[in-house]
Amino acid sequence: MAQQTVLVVDFGGQYNQLIARRVREANVYCELISFEKIREKIEETHPIGIIFTGGPASLLEPNAPRIDAEILGMGIPVLGICYGCQLIAGTLGGAVGNGPREYGRRELAIKAKKSKLFEGVSAKSTCWMSHTIYIEKLPQGFVTSAVTETCPVAAMEDPERKLYGVQFHPEVMHTAEGFKMLKNFLYGVCGAKGDWTMSGYIERTVKELKAKIGDSPIVCALSGGVDSAVAAALVHRACPQLKCIFVDHGLLRKDEAAEVVRVFRDEQGMNLVAVDASDRFLKKLAGVTEPEAKRKIIGEEFIRVFEDEGKKMGGAVDYLVQGTIYPDVIESGLNHSAKIKSHHNVGGLPAAIKFKELIEPLRLLFKDEVRRLGFELGLPENVVMRQPFPGPGLAIRIIGDITPDKLAILREADFIFRDEIAKNKLDREIWQYFAALTNIRTVGVMGDERTYDYTVVLRAVTSVDGMTADWARIPFEVLQNISDRIVNEVKHVNRVVYDITSKPPATIELE
Ligand code: XMP
Repeated sequence: MAQQTVLVVDFGGQYNQLIARRVREANVYCELISFEKIREKIEETHPIGIIFTGGPASLLEPNAPRIDAEILGMGIPVLGICYGCQLIAGTLGGAVGNGPREYGRRELAIKAKKSKLFEGVSAKSTCWMSHTIYIEKLPQGFVTSAVTETCPVAAMEDPERKLYGVQFHPEVMHTAEGFKMLKNFLYGVCGAKGDWTMSGYIERTVKELKAKIGDSPIVCALSGGVDSAVAAALVHRACPQLKCIFVDHGLLRKDEAAEVVRVFRDEQGMNLVAVDASDRFLKKLAGVTEPEAKRKIIGEEFIRVFEDEGKKMGGAVDYLVQGTIYPDVIESGLNHSAKIKSHHNVGGLPAAIKFKELIEPLRLLFKDEVRRLGFELGLPENVVMRQPFPGPGLAIRIIGDITPDKLAILREADFIFRDEIAKNKLDREIWQYFAALTNIRTVGVMGDERTYDYTVVLRAVTSVDGMTADWARIPFEVLQNISDRIVNEVKHVNRVVYDITSKPPATIELE
């Protein structure tokens, strides 16, 4: 049976990916598409329902994105959110107009007691609003199904035609019963069966990969990061011949390289080629202090190492696995809510090895789904929940030139920091945390001896996507303990400082 699909039509609102994630969380598969592709996507996917998202445009402007009225007459259930709700009204002969800005939490009062959208929802609850355009006249056949004190049409519906609109945002947490409303739409109105699960996804993908690849040669570059790890584990289920190449550039954290080999070769039984290229990288980096120069050298050296590996395989393979995930696909496919990435992972492999086709088994999944999939495939927590780690590794966490001694100092200090964060159960709430080594040396006193040693910086931030970040409010006692342990246990460190700058104006990494 074909997978049921819901189309989430993007009008450029900031919560659009969140809407798609909520739908998936409700075990319904959805795709986030541009409003310009709506017709072809309906033909291609035969959706069980459509959700119009919010967006920054105003229907009062001539250039606002619009849709054909026909789309609302096909019998496919539609839920319009914010701009999407106004769009339904405007398209079907209703009217919208400017009003006072309504922003933040509002009390929502349900008027249509029998509404399928509000089944089981409290008569009064909290919703989240963000708009200045109001629905002034309902289209024919619609009734007002909810109001707030300031918004006379907070929700509207025409249950006959299965058309629903909400002025507020059911996808955000501040709308207390929003998830229930989305599920009501998906299950009560669209007739969803809840057939989107990670175990189902594994089963289908493995079948497809087997049929497509068979026993042809297939290669994956394993970085140790979540996406490439999960992609490799998934492909390995279908293609045991998968060859994984893992390059240790000598700039990984304590025990990290050994851990990759243990998990993927020993536990998962994969054909893993671990290349210890630390000498090559460190030689190239000797004396280099400029951050971008370090990045460039590392990126280039990766390609050289992969080229060497490629030669050993005869220079070409049929298939190459890459851990592209859905947000990357969305970013390149929708030009509305596109973000500009500041960094790209050091890849190298596609540039260095010839291949016929790229295999991207995660390209439909959000990050949280990738993690669930990882657990389902039996990968351990420290791989699946791993925090982001930059491609150039510790090279951009050592300010100034990189030496084996400095790497050893940083590895120990960083290990203690991570160990204490985990022991204090702060690892899930802090987005990224690490130690960095400054090139500052200061005077200290240990025992009765004068010391002249390095200063370690602790960096810990909360963030959603790394684009902006705030410094994490780690309790003082925890910081105290970390500082004590580092100066006591790590030779050549006599001072520990905590970085309390947000991004912007600072960045997360120090280089
Ligand atoms: P910044 O330091 O720019 O970092 O605030 C934002 C996020 O990107 C990671 N980062 C990198 N990742 N190659 C990478 O693959 C890089 O050169 C690089 N520089 C920073 C950083 O760890 C954070 O998650």
